[in-house]
Amino acid sequence: MDIKVNFSGRSIRYTEEEIAVAVEAMRNADPLTQGHYRDEFERKFAKYQNVPEGSCFTVANGCAALEMSAQICRFRQGDEIVIPAHTFTASAYPYLKKGARPAWADVDLRTRVVTAETVEKAVTPRARAVVVVHLYGYVADMPEIAALCRKRGLILIEDAAQAIGAEVAGRKAGSFGDMGIFSFHSHKNLTTLGEGGMLYVKDPATAAVIPALRHNGHCAYAFARRDYWKPAMGNVDMPMLNDEPLMPSNYCLGEVECALGAKMLERIDKINDEKRVRALYFIDALADCPELEFHRVADRRHNYHLLAARVTAGPQMRDDFMRGMHEKGVKCVVQYIPLDRYDFYRRLGFGEANCPNGDAFFDSMVSFPFQHWLSDADLEYMLAATREALASLR
Ligand SMILES: Cc1ncc(COP(=O)(O)O)c(C=O)c1O
Repeated sequence: MDIKVNFSGRSIRYTEEEIAVAVEAMRNADPLTQGHYRDEFERKFAKYQNVPEGSCFTVANGCAALEMSAQICRFRQGDEIVIPAHTFTASAYPYLKKGARPAWADVDLRTRVVTAETVEKAVTPRARAVVVVHLYGYVADMPEIAALCRKRGLILIEDAAQAIGAEVAGRKAGSFGDMGIFSFHSHKNLTTLGEGGMLYVKDPATAAVIPALRHNGHCAYAFARRDYWKPAMGNVDMPMLNDEPLMPSNYCLGEVECALGAKMLERIDKINDEKRVRALYFIDALADCPELEFHRVADRRHNYHLLAARVTAGPQMRDDFMRGMHEKGVKCVVQYIPLDRYDFYRRLGFGEANCPNGDAFFDSMVSFPFQHWLSDADLEYMLAATREALASLR
């Protein structure tokens, strides 16, 4: 059977106006990295997030933002970091590289993200930080989780890679924590030519070290120079954070990507709204199918980055359903194997978790193709195929 509705690796199609902005930057940007398009994207992003100017930093991808946040945590021997087991691998390993041990937190079976309760359960006296992942584009209960982290003195990092524009309690995902990370990867609702990311840092003193950390430790000379070429073109001197050294890298995002990102911010709410309307249409049209449990929310803004459901009868029926869909030419996928189940994490000694909800959800979940550019005809075809596949299993 030919695939009619594919699970695309690309979330959006660019408008002619967006393409023109990228082309203009290709023609005229000088330099091609670290220039005024970066500044513009950062300024516009901070405004969009309703956070202070100077707190958002463009980076090469979401993983780079996570790696930088991991350095800023400055873990000590034995420190733990609470992380949901049900997430994408980059939510976790940057912290392990900096010496933290993961304390896997479970998710809520219905929302598929952590709650204040599941985070609290995973917090031990060794916990130093918490990563909350707004998976699928659904924002976790941030006011409650932030209050818990404040009470317990924990650094709070939001992995909002999938959640640009999603909101809870009238605030944007990624604006509640000490740090927030965003991804503009090819799959995301906003993508800067396939790779890109943003790091939000709340504390201004910490934010001040980010430009050098992001760019090889490059910084200005602290003294006035008589000859602009002496002692060299630029200085390298990584600022210390609380008297501790940080190690820089090159995490910069190019100017063409930044120009496009700044332009796309004008359309991101429209993209999210269109995805939300479609998701709710699809979910409501299947309301009489108890075999699929979607997540329909009224109390916050979901961006429906992904359209995922749990097959309520369990893993066997999930597999039969996916096979049936594939036979009809619809390529659904299964996502986010709990990290403790990967050989990679097991070999590191992090293969133990008590996360029954994450396990149960993953084992019976299905993620439908849901790129923004899916045609109405494709959506209707997928809806009809879903109904038929379920009917054949009854
Ligand atoms: C939840 C989550 N965290 C982190 C990342 C890493 O982002 P990037 O691919 O931009 O490095 C991704 C996506 O790719 C993600 O989905």
